[in-house]
Amino acid sequence: MVGRMTGFGHDRGEFSCDGVAVAEVARVTGTPVHVYSAALIDERYNALDRSFASWPHRLHYAIKANATLAIVRRMRGLGARADANSGGEIEVALRAGFGPADIVFTGVGKTAAELERAVGLKLAAINAESPGEVDRIAALAAAAGVRARVAVRINPDVEAGSHPHISTGHRATKFGMSLAEGAAMIRDMARRPSLHVVGLHVHIGSQITRPEPLVRAAEAVATLARELTAEGIALEHLDIGGGLGIAYEPGQTVVSVEDYANAVLPVIRRTGLAVVLEPGRWIVGPAGVIVTTVVDLKRQPDGGWFVVVDAGMTDLLRPALYGAFHGIEAVAPRTGEPIRADVVGPVCETSDTLGRDRALPPVEVGDLVVVRDTGAYGAVMASNYNRRPTAAEVIVEAGAWAVVRRRQTIDDMLQWDV
Ligand code: LLP
Repeated sequence: MVGRMTGFGHDRGEFSCDGVAVAEVARVTGTPVHVYSAALIDERYNALDRSFASWPHRLHYAIKANATLAIVRRMRGLGARADANSGGEIEVALRAGFGPADIVFTGVGKTAAELERAVGLKLAAINAESPGEVDRIAALAAAAGVRARVAVRINPDVEAGSHPHISTGHRATKFGMSLAEGAAMIRDMARRPSLHVVGLHVHIGSQITRPEPLVRAAEAVATLARELTAEGIALEHLDIGGGLGIAYEPGQTVVSVEDYANAVLPVIRRTGLAVVLEPGRWIVGPAGVIVTTVVDLKRQPDGGWFVVVDAGMTDLLRPALYGAFHGIEAVAPRTGEPIRADVVGPVCETSDTLGRDRALPPVEVGDLVVVRDTGAYGAVMASNYNRRPTAAEVIVEAGAWAVVRRRQTIDDMLQWDV
């Protein structure tokens, strides 16, 4: 077969997801609605898996990217494991059917309750961030009579070249420990009976589009791993985190998963250790869109239009928080002179702008518009600001679609107010 088999695009003039017109979904669910392509999720997971096929590897899906249960379950069905960043994400992983041995637990500021749960479950690895955290894990493990499986997160002091808000691998950030401090701590941990040092962890940021920083980070932990192995500290894996970027803008060049794998695998091979990856965005980002309705059109004083839609920063925070670009398209483009427009949401913040100075076909109130590449860090970062209920989420699979998270009602939203 030829042509675009999976994912999103215009099919006979109508914007579709795997052959299903998104307008059809929106008619039933209302807007805004997140629409995900099952086929694209599968295709991308499998492509990443294939690129690492030549070496023992484990793909721990970063639940934070999209924590909707149906998506997390799908990842499990594909053979992924899980990366959780909070007690809540650990419970999501368990409810999605992952076993504790499938889960790594990362994050700055794990609470006592979260650590107790993690130690009790005997997770695959707790990625420890500090000496204090290691002490707390050791005490909990000793009290429970277990040996906790711990990896140490290293901060390799590498610039990820991504937005500063999502760059986590240079020394001034709160994440991980320096190589020197981490190494000293691991030597001490190796002597503690309640701890089992199973690996090293590094994650230098997200939406990284060039391989070089990722390779430098892998090299840093690989070098340390070889030193530790030589000293008789037997690690099981190197966790090189997530961070692979996607092309949000037309023409944007991003390292391919094949080139990424070809760049990091030689570094990993020299350690003899299995590699753990924590991909989030790369798998699910392009596999989701938000379908939204035009609710108003306003002239801008200096020319152009405001296209006001019913999705806003409460549905997609990325443009407001990082100045992020997301493609915006009309679902059923009208013919006529294109317009220049800022596509804005209804929230009372000027930062509630989904797209600035875009060329769009002429639009009218009631038209549907899609915002592209919102499958990662879209729905998960939603809020009820302005008392806006969170949107419905839909998965399209094999020509059919289903709501996998229903739209919040006003009663849902108010149920915690006592
Ligand atoms: N592992 C760790 C320890 C992480 O902190 C993250 C993401 C990942 C894996 C997954 O990274 P990915 O493969 O998705 O890049 N809200 C931001 C992104 C924050 C990423 C936080 N950590 C955004 O919308 O761009």
